Amino acid sequence: MYSFVVAVGKNNEMGVNNHLPWHLPNDVKYFKQVTWDHTMIMGRKTFESLLKVLPNRHHIILTRDKSYHIDHNRVSVVYSLDELLSKTPGPQEYTVIGGSQIFDLLLPYTDKIYLTRIDKSFEATVYFNEPDPKDWTIIDEKEGILDENNTIPHKFITLERKVKVCS
Ligand SMILES: NC(=O)c1ccc[n+]([C@@H]2O[C@H](COP(=O)([O-])OP(=O)(O)OC[C@H]3O[C@@H](n4cnc5c(N)ncnc54)[C@H](OP(=O)(O)O)[C@@H]3O)[C@@H](O)[C@H]2O)c1
Repeated sequence: MYSFVVAVGKNNEMGVNNHLPWHLPNDVKYFKQVTWDHTMIMGRKTFESLLKVLPNRHHIILTRDKSYHIDHNRVSVVYSLDELLSKTPGPQEYTVIGGSQIFDLLLPYTDKIYLTRIDKSFEATVYFNEPDPKDWTIIDEKEGILDENNTIPHKFITLERKVKVCS
């Protein structure tokens, strides 16, 4: 089973020039909590934006470049959607962490979305193509707590697909 973990600005902004448009430590903490101990699936550009292999999580990177290899025991590289699907059998939960190309590719296989909504507009080069709200139910919604390091209002929302694609 795939779950998206995604943060968006007011206009579904996701990224700018291969990094995040905002500074929001609460969301970094939330991302860590949701992905901890999981296998994370990501596009090659998102992997390169992380700048390092994250602790305690396995990374699967999608690229079409057959010469792309990462020599690390917590990193695998796959070269097509079919290869990804064959290497990520259910019912285990895999967290899909972006970017926009990979969310578009994997939406048809995804039943859950951990969505952080950040209540501000940003300059962006990459946007989240939000799924049709009529197909999804909000099962949890929490306001983020503001403080001197987290000054932008934000909400942590969990959505589930009404008719599951993965049983
Ligand atoms: N706000 C958030 O929650 C969030 C989350 C993640 C990322 N981001 C941001 O999003 C941006 C990156 O997103 P992006 O959409 O530009 O790139 P991306 O989705 O991370 O990666 C795109 C790459 O994935 C590979 N790919 C795509 N489709 C494929 C397929 N069918 N088979 C095999 N490989 C495939 C290709 O790699 P090759 O070119 O190597 O073939 C493609 O260039 C950054 O700014 C990042 O900071 C934001």
